[in-house]
Amino acid sequence: MTPLVNSDRILDELRTLATFSEPAAEGAEKPGDTAVTRIVFTERDREARAWLAEQTEAAGLTIRTDAVGNTFFRWQGSEPDLPAIATGSHIDAIPNAGMYDGTVGVLGGLEAIRALQGSGFVPKRSIELILFTSEEPTRFGIGCLGSRVMGGVLSTQSAERLRDKDDKTIDEVRSAAGFRAPLADAKLPRGHYAHFVELHIEQGPILEREGLDIGIVTAIAAPASSRITIQGEGGHAGAMLMPIRKDALAAASEVILAVEAAALATGAIDTVATVGMCDVFPGAVNSVPSRVRLSLDVRDIDEARRDKVLSDIQQACEATAAKRHAIITTEVINSDAPASCSPQILDAIEAACNSEHAKSQRMVSRAYHDSLFMARICPIAMIFIPCRGGVSHRPDEFSTPESIALGTRILAKTLAILSGL
Ligand code: GLV
Ligand code: MN
Ligand code: MN
Repeated sequence: MTPLVNSDRILDELRTLATFSEPAAEGAEKPGDTAVTRIVFTERDREARAWLAEQTEAAGLTIRTDAVGNTFFRWQGSEPDLPAIATGSHIDAIPNAGMYDGTVGVLGGLEAIRALQGSGFVPKRSIELILFTSEEPTRFGIGCLGSRVMGGVLSTQSAERLRDKDDKTIDEVRSAAGFRAPLADAKLPRGHYAHFVELHIEQGPILEREGLDIGIVTAIAAPASSRITIQGEGGHAGAMLMPIRKDALAAASEVILAVEAAALATGAIDTVATVGMCDVFPGAVNSVPSRVRLSLDVRDIDEARRDKVLSDIQQACEATAAKRHAIITTEVINSDAPASCSPQILDAIEAACNSEHAKSQRMVSRAYHDSLFMARICPIAMIFIPCRGGVSHRPDEFSTPESIALGTRILAKTLAILSGL
């Protein structure tokens, strides 16, 4: 069985999907780049979802949605009562992102199904394409919202406490988007799916650097994130004398450097820590900052080592607070375990790679993905394709049409193997 992947079609669809975007920020997009901003449940996201549904309907897939907006496109197998095989990813995009993160897994999943249909393949287990809601943390501050709820990792009560920047609740925005069932109904039981496999761009430089075609993901790093608030004392930038200042931004600078130092101190390449957001209050040229809010993102494939970094950062916050007479508080947003991939799926992906004569290597994923939370309910694995320079979350993110087509063929063959097990 040779799934005939239509490379032009998937590229056309990736380009069309990229048009459902807020305008690029000034200067964000250089010639040849495509900047995409698509925040969950905004008008652009809803338009993109409607467009995707049309493409899946044309492929004869049936559609189901859940309370959080996860959407399931099903190709019925010859034994529909067996747990299905699932694939998929996300289409939301952080501000000024590129056009491949997540979308390759969704449109690649759809193309894989169409390629299998076109080859006359009849799956024993049904095959479902899943569009996950809000893999990116942009709107509600927490990543993988849809798969977390589906995997039972985020309780209904915790989800209901989430607020966006306009103080809207998840219930408000999901019901405005047409998803009104009780949130608790979105949790799926263990065993609902037989296997889940996600195609994604690597978002790192290894495959390209090593001249490899495919990464076979064996584990996904453990992410943690929190919000650090530094409360100092504001005042007039001219009149407030230096010795008595409690400048919240100066204190925040020490915290940021401590975050970097804590990650570097492990000596492990797999430890990463980032402060990506810094909100300064009141934010005036001639006012000493009284309050700063920082975002903190720490990840490691080794959970204990990640937790040690978090506790080193906490100690540094306490030392800075004491030294600068500031109040520093930390609110944990998520602290997740890593996930291991299923040897059975890894073998299926490897067999698919061999039949395509693709050069592959097993590797870990340092980025998180919806697979991390699907691992709570079924065996998972991921297929990575190279991306230029390892660049992601930027408008110059790029994967070649050949890589996308090869990844899609390997996904199709993997789904075919798994659906017959
Ligand atoms: C996903 O976008 C991540 O931040 O790993
Ligand atoms: Mn992303
Ligand atoms: Mn992604």
